[in-house]
Amino acid sequence: MNFSIRAQQLNTLLNQHQSLWRHNAYNEVSPRSFRDFPNLLVFLLNLSDEELQHLQANDRDLLTALAPYFPPAAELLALITLAAPLPHQNTEPPRGIPGRKWLQIQAFIDAHPRSDAASHSGESLPEVRLDNTAIIEWCSGKGYLSEALTKRYELDAIGLEIDPSLVAAGNLRASTAKHHRRVIACDVLSDQVFQHVDSSRQLLALHACGGLHQRLLNTAAVQKNPRLSISPCCYHRFNQGEYRYLSAQMQGSELRFSNDDLRTAVRQTKTARSGETQARRQLQAWYLGLRLILEEHRIATNTPLPSTPQHWSKTSFRDWLNAVLTLKPLELSLPANLTQYEKAGWQCLREAERIDLVRMAFRRAIELHCVLDSVLFLEEHHYHCTLSEFCASSLTPRNLLIQAEKV
Ligand SMILES: C[S@@+](CC[C@H](N)C(=O)[O-])C[C@H]1O[C@@H](n2cnc3c(N)ncnc32)[C@H](O)[C@@H]1O
Repeated sequence: MNFSIRAQQLNTLLNQHQSLWRHNAYNEVSPRSFRDFPNLLVFLLNLSDEELQHLQANDRDLLTALAPYFPPAAELLALITLAAPLPHQNTEPPRGIPGRKWLQIQAFIDAHPRSDAASHSGESLPEVRLDNTAIIEWCSGKGYLSEALTKRYELDAIGLEIDPSLVAAGNLRASTAKHHRRVIACDVLSDQVFQHVDSSRQLLALHACGGLHQRLLNTAAVQKNPRLSISPCCYHRFNQGEYRYLSAQMQGSELRFSNDDLRTAVRQTKTARSGETQARRQLQAWYLGLRLILEEHRIATNTPLPSTPQHWSKTSFRDWLNAVLTLKPLELSLPANLTQYEKAGWQCLREAERIDLVRMAFRRAIELHCVLDSVLFLEEHHYHCTLSEFCASSLTPRNLLIQAEKV
């Protein structure tokens, strides 16, 4: 794969359609650029609830469904398509490791064929392989990934983790292990990291957030580690309010991503429980109902409103309104027939959710744009890279995997 060309194509497409992926359907009316696609709104507003839910959770199906009404979707689909995940093991999780996390760990490890593994006939394996070099697990939590790796292969591992309770719990788990493994208290953003990362070790990170995985890349560029494997997540975290390009190629780009834009990249709540989804939708409908009330009082509908905790969805619309108006604070008399506004809020929500599919159509492209920046940075530092999906997005939507080997 030519990463540079793909990054450039994504950059151009994202640049052209900024007004669409920056549009927040929950706050504003449809952007002017919707007029360029006359049948798009009709298609979106006629989607059933089941179709909506399916498309919200599936990038590829979403882009395929939009393409007849919104031609850029076909281009996006081609650009976000990567090597499909390899089949992975599915064994019982060891005591204490949550089932979904265990499946992600197994898929992550199985996406790294060993350097001594023979290729099955006809199956193309990633070119970057895992060998017995000692591992540093970046932002390891309790070190579940190291635990699984050291058990499966003969290698030593160190986890770096900032949270002392996770460090202690991880070391308790490691105390009976056959292979040498431990979790070290370390803020990877500080210089402490250089006490632990030397050029002999390979670096692995499963779900290291924005600034934390960028720090891994910068550290590797200095220490010249032989191998890296990173599945990035939460691009909006541990940065300074916006995405900061690492690669020389992307630093020349005019396209900027605020943290709100980066949140769009991870807006796929497939793993959220249905109770949480229900509570979130309830509050969204109430916010939209409140905006209708504000409009009638000639108060700007984009007035910032305080956010409320999810459990407030269990109160009534009236109690919630009173609480939000007190928090804001804003004095206004509530209309007598609140049920009507609550109903209208739900109707606005149904429309906003459908229109928001257009923003969602760009979320993987935004994510990939950031990940390609990391890959280009590694190439600029003489790493040979592969980029793939290590598991199905239903297991975790944060399923991109960069593997890199020092040339
Ligand atoms: C999303 S979790 C991933 C944990 C683990 N890799 C996993 O997949 O279960 C991110 C981890 O990074 C740790 N972390 C956050 N900031 C850190 C820092 N500055 N230095 C080291 N670890 C950090 C958190 O405490 C947390 O355990």
